[in-house]
Amino acid sequence: MNVLVTGGAGYIGSHTCLELLESGYGVVVIDNLCNSNPKSLDRVMELTGKTLKFYEGDVRDEALLRKIFQENEIGCVIHFAGLKAVGESVSQPWRYYDNNLNSTLVLTKVMKEVGMQNIIFSSSATVYTADNEMPLRETSRTGGCTNPYGWTKYMTEQILSGLATAEPEWSIVLLRYFNPIGAHESGRIGEDPRGIPNNLMPYITQVAVGRREMLSVYGNDYDTHDGTGVRDYIHVVDLAKGHVAAVKFAMEHTGCEVFNLGTGTGYSVLDMVNTFRDVNQVALPYKIVERRPGDIATCYADPAKSREVLGWTATKTLADMCRDSWNWQSNNPMGYGE
Ligand code: NAD
Ligand code: UD1
Repeated sequence: MNVLVTGGAGYIGSHTCLELLESGYGVVVIDNLCNSNPKSLDRVMELTGKTLKFYEGDVRDEALLRKIFQENEIGCVIHFAGLKAVGESVSQPWRYYDNNLNSTLVLTKVMKEVGMQNIIFSSSATVYTADNEMPLRETSRTGGCTNPYGWTKYMTEQILSGLATAEPEWSIVLLRYFNPIGAHESGRIGEDPRGIPNNLMPYITQVAVGRREMLSVYGNDYDTHDGTGVRDYIHVVDLAKGHVAAVKFAMEHTGCEVFNLGTGTGYSVLDMVNTFRDVNQVALPYKIVERRPGDIATCYADPAKSREVLGWTATKTLADMCRDSWNWQSNNPMGYGE
C-alpha cells in the first residue's frame, strides 16, 4: 500500500518515510521545500535501498493533488506539511493560518473527491491548556492557545474531528507530539533548522559544533527539581515508528482518535545539558537568562493510550537522543547545506 506523506522532506517526515519504507509501504511525498532540502529524501533512499516518489509542490495546489491521486494508488495520507515556528506565527499570523489551515482543507477536499479518507495528522502538545495536571492525557483540556501556530493545530483538530462526526467513512488519527529530538542513528538525516533555532536541542548542537557561542537557559526559578523547564523529549525515530503504528490503526478503524506521542518522562533543561555533555564529551557553555514568555514549568505525556491501543511505546533513552543529535550535527555541521 502507498502512503502519501505531505511535508515528507522535513525533519519528522523524512524519518517517517524511512520507517514506512522499512515496513514495506510504498511512499509518495509532496513537499514545497519551504523549510527543507530534497537531499533528505535522497538519503532516505540511500539508507533503505528503496525508492520513493517525490512531487515538489504545495499541498494547497488542488490540481497537483488530483494529479498525485490519479497517478498513484494511495491508501492513507500522513499530513506533516505545515509551518511550525511559534515566534514567526505571531509576526506572520495570516501566513500561518493560510498555510496550515488551507493545506488541510484542500487536502481533505481532494481526498473526499477520490474516496480515500484515511488521514494521520501532526498535532502537538501545544493544544493542551497550561492549567492541566501532569501527565497530560488525551482527555486533558485543550484550547486557550497562546500563538497562531498553536491555534492552527487546535483548529485543524476541530476541522478533522468535525469531518469524522459528519461523515462516517473517514478514518482520522490526530497525533499530539511532545518534544521530538534526535536523528537517525546513521547520522545521514536529521533536523536542519533555518536561521537561529528556537528549540532547545538544535540550539545545543549548534553551540557544541561552534556555530553559536553559548546556550541561554530560559529561567531557573520554575517549580521543578532544578528550577529549569521540564519537557517530554522523544526520539524522532520512536516518533516515526508511532506513525507506522497509526497507519495500521487508521486502516482498521473509522472515526477520529487522538493519541499522545511522548515517553511519559520529563527532563529539565539542565538534565539535557548535562546528559549531552556526558554522552558526547563535548563542551557546552551556557548562561541562565530570563524566562521565555509563554513557557510553562512542566509538560509531559501520559502515553498509556498509545501503548494500549496502537501497541506503540517509545524505547530510546535520553542518552540515545543526545548521542544521535550530536552524531547528525557533527557529521553535517551545516545540515544538508554542506
Ligand atoms: P519541518 O518544517 O521540518 O517539516 C515540514 C515540511 O512541510 C517541510 O519540509 C516544508 O517544506 C513542508 N511544507 C510546509 N508547508 C507546505 C505546503 N503548504 N505544501 C507542501 N509542503 C509544505 O517540520 P517537522 O518538525 O518535521 O514537523 C512536521 C509537522 O509536525 C508539522 O506540521 C509540525 O507543526 C508538527 N509538529 C512538529 C513538532 C516539532 O517539535 N518538530 C512538534 C509538534 C508538531
Ligand atoms: C516549543 C513551542 C511549542 C512547540 C514546540 C515544538 C514555545 C513557547 N513553545 O515547545 O509551541 O509545539 O516548541 O516546536 O515556543 N529552552 C532554553 N533555551 C533555548 C531553547 C529552549 O532554555 O535556547 C528551554 C525552554 O524554556 C523549555 C525547553 O528548553 O523549557 C524546551 O524548549 P523548546 O525546545 O523550545 O520546546 P517547548 O517550549 O516545549
